[in-house]
Order: sequence, then C-alpha cells, then structure tokens
Amino acid sequence: MRLLVCGGAGFIGSNFVRARIEGHGDEVVVLDKLTYAGRRENLQDVAEAPGFRLLHGAIEDREAVARALGDAEAIVNFAAETHVDRSITEPDAFVQTNWLGTHVLLEAARERGMRYVHISTDEVYGSIDDGSFTESSPLAPSSPYAATKAGADLLVSSYVHTYDLPASICRGSNNYGPYQYPEKLIPLMVLSALHGEPLPVYGDGLQVRNWLYVTDFASAIGHVLDHGVRGEVYNVGGPDECPNLEVVERIVELTGADPALIEHIRDRPGHDRRYSLSSEKVRGLGWEPQVRLQQGIEQTVAWYRDSPWWWEPIRSGEYRQYYERHYGRALSAD
Ligand code: NAD
Ligand code: DAU
Repeated sequence: MRLLVCGGAGFIGSNFVRARIEGHGDEVVVLDKLTYAGRRENLQDVAEAPGFRLLHGAIEDREAVARALGDAEAIVNFAAETHVDRSITEPDAFVQTNWLGTHVLLEAARERGMRYVHISTDEVYGSIDDGSFTESSPLAPSSPYAATKAGADLLVSSYVHTYDLPASICRGSNNYGPYQYPEKLIPLMVLSALHGEPLPVYGDGLQVRNWLYVTDFASAIGHVLDHGVRGEVYNVGGPDECPNLEVVERIVELTGADPALIEHIRDRPGHDRRYSLSSEKVRGLGWEPQVRLQQGIEQTVAWYRDSPWWWEPIRSGEYRQYYERHYGRALSAD
C-alpha cells in the first residue's frame, strides 16, 4: 500500500510507520511539522526503505498536504498536539492542529475520494467511574486537548455521513513504549528515576489509566486500515488498568530508584479520574493485544536505559524549559 502518514515522526506514528514498512512492505510518505514532539531520529531505522520520505510541513497547510499526497492510496492521521497539561496552559496550537488541520486533511481526502483513518483517543468520552466506554458512549471531553480531539472526530463523522467519505476512527487508550516524549507519565518517571530526580505524582495518584503498549496500538490501527468497515469508530483499549501511583512504584522497583523520590504535587485542573475502553469491536477484526503491563513497563525501562542517544538531546533542549515551567515551583514548594 502507498500511505501518507501525517504526524508520523511522533511517538505512535513512528511505531506505526516502522510496523507498516517492516511488516507489510508499504511505501510510506510522512508529513510532519516536526514540533518539539516530532523527531527525525524516531524514523532513522526506516529512512532508507524503498519509497520512504519524510516531508517537513503542517497538516493545516493545504499546499503542503497536496504536495505530500502524491499517489497515496490512504491517509492515516496521527498529527496532533497531544499533551493535556500543555493544552491547559497553551490551547491555541491544539485548536489549530487538532481541529483545523483535520479539516484540511478531510477536504483533501474528499476531493480524491480517499480512504482516511483518523487517530483519536479515549479522552473524548471523559471520565468513567465503573465499566467501560463503547463506541456509542456519548462524547464528554474534559480538557482543551480532549475537546479538540472530540471536535475532530465529529468532523470526520460528518464527512462520512454527508460525503460518504471512506473514513474510520481509532480511539486509543493511554499508550506507552519506546520513542515517547518524556513529558508523558511513564517516560517522565523512567528518566527521572534513572537520574535520581523527583517523581511528581498529581494529587493522590489514584487516577486509573488503561495502558496500551504502542506496538499493540500500531497493529490495531493496521487492522482498521486493512479490514475496518468504512464509517465506523473502533475503540482500542489496553489489556490492563492501573492507578498512576502503582505504575510509578513499579518503575521505582525496576530502576532501583529511591521510593522517597515520589512527591505528591498539586492535581491537574479538571483531571479525569478513570479511563476504560471496551475493545470488543476491534477484536472482531482479529486484533488482540500482545503485551501486558508488567512486560511492557520492563521493555520500556530497558529501552530508555539503553537509549541515551535518543533522550540526551531532548533533556538538554526545550524539554528542560518545559519541565522548569511546569514542575519547578510545584516541586520546590513541597
Ligand atoms: P506525539 O506528540 O508524540 O506526536 C505528534 C506528532 O504530530 C509529532 O511528530 C508532531 O511533530 C506532529 N505534529 C504536530 N502538529 C502538527 C501539524 N500541525 N502538522 C503536522 N504534524 C504535526 O503524539 P502521539 O502520542 O504519538 O499521538 C499521536 C496521535 O495519537 C494523536 O492524534 C493523539 O491524539 C493520539 N493518541 C495518543 C495516545 C497516547 O497515549 N499518546 C493515545 C490515544 C490516541
Ligand atoms: O488516554 C489517552 C491519552 O493519554 C492521549 O490521548 C494523550 O495524548 C496522552 O497524553 C495521554 O493523556 P493522559 O493525560 O492520560 O497522559 P499523561 O501521561 O499526561 O498522564 C497520565 C496520568 O498520569 C494522568 O492521570 C496524569 C498523571 N500524571 C502525569 C504526569 C505527566 C502525573 O501524576 N504526573 C505527571 O507528571
């Protein structure tokens, strides 16, 4: 298949691109704005694959999208601003990329009658105390990030209903694994633990997430691309739920860090308490998750431990300023 993968230089996108090139022999063009989260290094091991190209450009730029499309048969869109905490302090880029950018891609797909697979999140449903969200649960996003993702999902659905666009939506739960930018819980805690730095847990740390190893999400997206019914939404949840504090404790144990590094700091405003997805529908396409949480955390800790080439440039760049801005006062105030 010839694919245009938008946002393919980010965490999940790069894992997906690798899986499609190595497992399916697809020809992939990546269009990526290369924000702080998008990195050429994430794709360096597929850079020489036949047909592979990484184009620097934004999905909200119609001309860049038209140039990137070439003779692609399908668009898979990962491009987004993705960090909930940043959406609370700086929401503008979230509206621009997640909502307006999706609209530009939908228009390009509509003009060409193309297959379009949209990558979305369980956060569009909001928080759930008991049970699990299905694809027909109402959308009730809490954060600006989640609201822009829900808005994009509604736009995609409107193009399916109005123009018969052959689009599908994949809503994933919390991903973790190699190449994840260390602003997110698991890589932040792994790198901080390896460096003997504080481990900042929001509030009581009893918020629950439904953890999905990134290669499992990549394979679910592949199943939807290859076998998904046009117009349908597919939830993709991980095999295990776990409170944040327990995730951090497991990382402390695996890294040999001092448990006294764990610091409870002020909670995230509007923090969703629990996410949980029913994945029955995507399992009906033949998908099953392969990696349980304990094995996935062990693999993730090992990858970060062995990959200073990847995280050293990050920790000395924009990330350091973000970290000081976001955590500096909270940690020193304790
Ligand atoms: P990420 O932040 O690691 O990567 C996002 C990528 O998009 C980066 O390469 C970035 O440069 C690129 N990008 C940002 N703005 C762009 C623009 N305007 N034009 C082109 N490229 C742009 O994110 P991720 O964690 O890999 O998430 C990928 C997708 O999956 C997102 O749509 C996200 O909402 C969704 N998702 C993420 C998770 C998770 O746990 N990380 C779970 C479910 C769904
Ligand atoms: O659920 C899917 C979503 O998962 C994706 O759509 C988002 O793009 C992705 O960022 C992620 O959102 P979360 O807000 O759940 O992930 P994050 O890693 O930021 O936080 C996970 C949990 O850990 C959450 O309850 C907040 C908590 N947390 C996070 C950080 C960064 C802490 O306690 N301390 C921290 O320093």
